[in-house]
Amino acid sequence: MTAIQVTETTISEAKELRDEFQRFLREYEFGMREVETKISILRDEFTHDHSYNPIEHVKSRLKSPDSIVEKVARRGIEDPDFDTIREQITDIAGVRVTCSFVADVYLLFDLLTQQDDITVRIVKDYIANPKPNGYKSLHAIIEVPVFLSTGPLSIPVEVQFRTIAMDFWASLEHKIYYKFSNQVPGHLVASLSDAAEAAAELDTRMERLHREAHGVARRQIEPPSPRIMKV
Ligand code: GTP
Ligand code: MG
Repeated sequence: MTAIQVTETTISEAKELRDEFQRFLREYEFGMREVETKISILRDEFTHDHSYNPIEHVKSRLKSPDSIVEKVARRGIEDPDFDTIREQITDIAGVRVTCSFVADVYLLFDLLTQQDDITVRIVKDYIANPKPNGYKSLHAIIEVPVFLSTGPLSIPVEVQFRTIAMDFWASLEHKIYYKFSNQVPGHLVASLSDAAEAAAELDTRMERLHREAHGVARRQIEPPSPRIMKV
């Protein structure tokens, strides 16, 4: 192993890199805040004008420098610079919107992605097409403009929409996956898959109950049509 000589030049280069990384992450934080604001405006408007809040909770996170570096390595990106990372890693800013019912998931998705300043890059509808383990959620990589003193920037943000039941399942699955270092025993995989079906059944029953209680005229609850990829 070659020792790095600590000179004034290496220190000032390291500081420059740190500052650039912080600036880079700040852009994503601004993009994330724009999306959070859009979601909270929709929530407030619904609450006041429709006396109904379709959102249970919203959680945002910025990917840590360590996990950005880890993902860059996992993707086999050689000699990464900030522009390549910007292009290849689209989940540096993430916003998760947990809704009450499946219909609300699609409603919020439509209301957000149809806004004029939003560009949709990728949509993955894991509600219409769940993952083999049972994972369900509606994912979108959107781009939102951020206006800085240096000019406008278009920032990618990963938005995940799901119901409380899907969120409950995903958070348990994540913990189990983590506990077994990705080698989950077969019987637990099967149980998780069963639990995902039970969660989906609960979603359907709760939504039906809600509609009955509120007298929403809808003869049957049909699954909403899957959202296809729009670019
Ligand atoms: P990543 O490299 O993990 O970001 O996956 P991807 O680029 O293939 O994107 P995908 O849309 O499949 O997943 C993005 C994110 O969705 C993940 O980082 C998780 O937050 C969530 N996710 C996807 N699949 C699962 C799953 O099976 N279980 C859980 N708990 N979360 C999942
Ligand atoms: Mg991710």
